[in-house]
Amino acid sequence: MTRLAYTMLPSLPGIPWMTSKRLRKMFVFNLFLFSAGLCLFYKLTSIGICIFCQTNRNISFKRDSGHFLHLPHIDCSRNSPFLVILVTLSPESQSNTRMAIRDTWGKEKSIADKRIVTLFLLGITLDPSNQIVITAESQKYRDIIQKDFIDSYYNLTLKTMMGIEWVHKFCPQSSFVMKTDSDMFVNPYYLTELLLKKNRTSRFFTGFLKLNEHPIRQFFSKWYVSYYEFPGNDYPPFCSGTGYVFSTDVASQVYNVSENILFIKLEDVFIGLCLAELSIIPEELHSKQTFFPEGVRFSVCRFKKIVTSHDVKARDLLNYWNALEKSTGKECSGD
Ligand SMILES: *[C@@H]1O[C@H](CO)[C@@H](O)[C@H](O)[C@H]1NC(C)=O
Ligand SMILES: *[C@@H]1O[C@H](CO)[C@@H](O)[C@H](O)[C@H]1NC(C)=O
Ligand SMILES: *[C@@H]1O[C@H](CO)[C@@H](O)[C@H](O)[C@H]1NC(C)=O
Ligand SMILES: *[C@@H]1O[C@H](CO)[C@@H](O)[C@H](O)[C@H]1NC(C)=O
Repeated sequence: MTRLAYTMLPSLPGIPWMTSKRLRKMFVFNLFLFSAGLCLFYKLTSIGICIFCQTNRNISFKRDSGHFLHLPHIDCSRNSPFLVILVTLSPESQSNTRMAIRDTWGKEKSIADKRIVTLFLLGITLDPSNQIVITAESQKYRDIIQKDFIDSYYNLTLKTMMGIEWVHKFCPQSSFVMKTDSDMFVNPYYLTELLLKKNRTSRFFTGFLKLNEHPIRQFFSKWYVSYYEFPGNDYPPFCSGTGYVFSTDVASQVYNVSENILFIKLEDVFIGLCLAELSIIPEELHSKQTFFPEGVRFSVCRFKKIVTSHDVKARDLLNYWNALEKSTGKECSGD
């Protein structure tokens, strides 16, 4: 940097040490060193070199923390569902998203005499008007599971584990559980058909398999995980959190071991860590791909043969669903 550039820096008369030219020079130089250091740090961590890592973290998941504020009105011991679909809602999710799901794939139904119920998982937000809406909906539809943890992306693991705890305590009589998100399309007909065909009733876990994943160390990624949070280089096998399905016994087993598992904010990885502890390996449901963690372009024939598709807007759900319900499937060729 030239002498001119230094003199052009504003001298800050209020701060005496900034008035000296020499000190200002030093300040700029230090700023440069600091930025270079930061860049180097970022580069090294992103290629997997660990600096200042504290890897002896010992924060286990706390089971049963918090209180249930809302419980669904369903007696599993009397009319036990075949499949319970648990939908994690983002804190910003609106009532219209829940209504769109209730009117489409989340509508209570029987498929081949098998009862399917859909429930919503929520934490609390700091906006009291939101809670009023949720309380009213819970009283009307009786399909909300809510605990008093702060709802945020970093608390997703608490949300999923709340669903697992609910299944373990209130609905162990069901046969299967699905965990999915509110921006998903789910085809419960095809899922039921495939689960019946697969005929597996215990220690079964399926979805979009992620067998060979590693922690993302890029600091600015949404999925950034520090060495402190997860010291290892490999994740255990898990399934994409956009939609996974398991036999109900897995819920109780995961609930049971969760206390001994290190907490990680990525809920699907956390479940993977529990499965590894239980020696349960995620498996394919079908020889063809049926769980899509990305968006699949809609066509009636395609959506008849998938279980999940991502990134579906509430306003599209109804159109897709009506088109599927109207079609007989005769126009679709092949399997
Ligand atoms: C972690 O903490 C628990 C108690 O909070 C203790 O029983 C356990 O031995 C600790 N584990 C390690 C590896 O330090
Ligand atoms: C997660 O929930 C707990 C319990 O309410 C709260 O103390 C914590 O701040 C929340 N974490 C985040 C990142 O919001
Ligand atoms: C499902 O598996 C059980 C054994 O685990 C077997 O007895 C039964 O016949 C199978 N059902 C079908 C429809 O394949
Ligand atoms: C829970 O874990 C304990 C000890 O690890 C074991 O004895 C028990 O059978 C487990 N229960 C379930 C439901 O897996």
